[in-house]
Amino acid sequence: MRQAGRSLPEYREIRKSTTLLEAVQIPELAAEITYQPVQRYGVDAAILYSDIMVPLFAIGFGVDIKPGVGPVIASPFRNAEDLTRIRPLEADCDTSYVIETIHILREMLGDTPLIGFAGAPFTLASYLVEGGPSKNHAKTKLLMHAQPHLWSQLMERLCDLTRSSLQSQAQAGCAALQVFDSWVGTLSLLDYNTHVLPHMKRLFGSLHELGVPIIHFGVNTGELLHAMSQCESNVIGVDWRVSLTEARRRVGDRYAIQGNLDPALCLGDWQIIENEARRILEDGGRRGHIFNLGHGVTPDIPPESLQRLVEFVHDYKHT
Ligand code: CP3
Repeated sequence: MRQAGRSLPEYREIRKSTTLLEAVQIPELAAEITYQPVQRYGVDAAILYSDIMVPLFAIGFGVDIKPGVGPVIASPFRNAEDLTRIRPLEADCDTSYVIETIHILREMLGDTPLIGFAGAPFTLASYLVEGGPSKNHAKTKLLMHAQPHLWSQLMERLCDLTRSSLQSQAQAGCAALQVFDSWVGTLSLLDYNTHVLPHMKRLFGSLHELGVPIIHFGVNTGELLHAMSQCESNVIGVDWRVSLTEARRRVGDRYAIQGNLDPALCLGDWQIIENEARRILEDGGRRGHIFNLGHGVTPDIPPESLQRLVEFVHDYKHT
């Protein structure tokens, strides 16, 4: 997720003078930001400091990331002509700074694994079509229904972009990759199966040869979990709306599960956090559970609470 570093004073200090997209393009700085939560909390893995919009920014689609708002598109996707604006990603030149950041981090991190990531085609498309963040994703859904062929072409181009980005990150030394389909939970199961799943199957099918575990995550995906299990990732991430036991039932035994502490509860007293963390660790069981938040850290979560949470999870023993 947009993760641990977000509420750290040392991160905010850097961001006072540098925009997110600037910081991502300075490998030494991006590596330092990635390292901050590892250093502070001792979490088990680092997540690369970048953003799902970086490949689209890098091919010149006209993306900005506005503080407190999120990704904004200067000229949104409207018609078949706009397809040509999504040219293939040449990761070696277009996102050489990401590759360089990963190289620096491999040195810094030692044995701590680095997780690379990319946006899933639906979530990327939702920004391109809506022009920015959206509550109901109406334009995206209407494009899907009114012009299914154009939608399919858009998804194909975005699949290729995501694949190229993930491939370059794996080759540069990421130990695992996470595919964020953050907003796909806005769809009905029928729309997911018709307009998204075939593309996701193709995408994930092409990722196995990269030889690293793949995590597949979305918010509000309770109704979609079984369909998501047909994509053949290795880990499925869930938010707090579905229990881990129920998520496992929906995706089957083949998958590890990641999640699912509600970040809102991290704003509370320690006792609230501890009770919930304990419940989730029990719910996750002894094997095949990656403890995580159900979505990203918000900037108002006290770093001390996250510090204590990491210690609690590390010390926890199943009875
Ligand atoms: O936090 C980290 O260091 C990990 C790196 C990371 C970022 N974005 C940096 C970032 C990751 C893994 C992402 C993924 C991302 N970006 C997703 C998928 C995960 C999720 O949270 O669902 C999505 C949907 C985006 C798009 C995006 N970028 C949004 C919606 C926002 C929020 C805007 C806001 O201010 O609330 C961003 C900005 C962003 N990207 C931040 C970070 C740390 C926070 C704001 C900032 O530091 O400027």
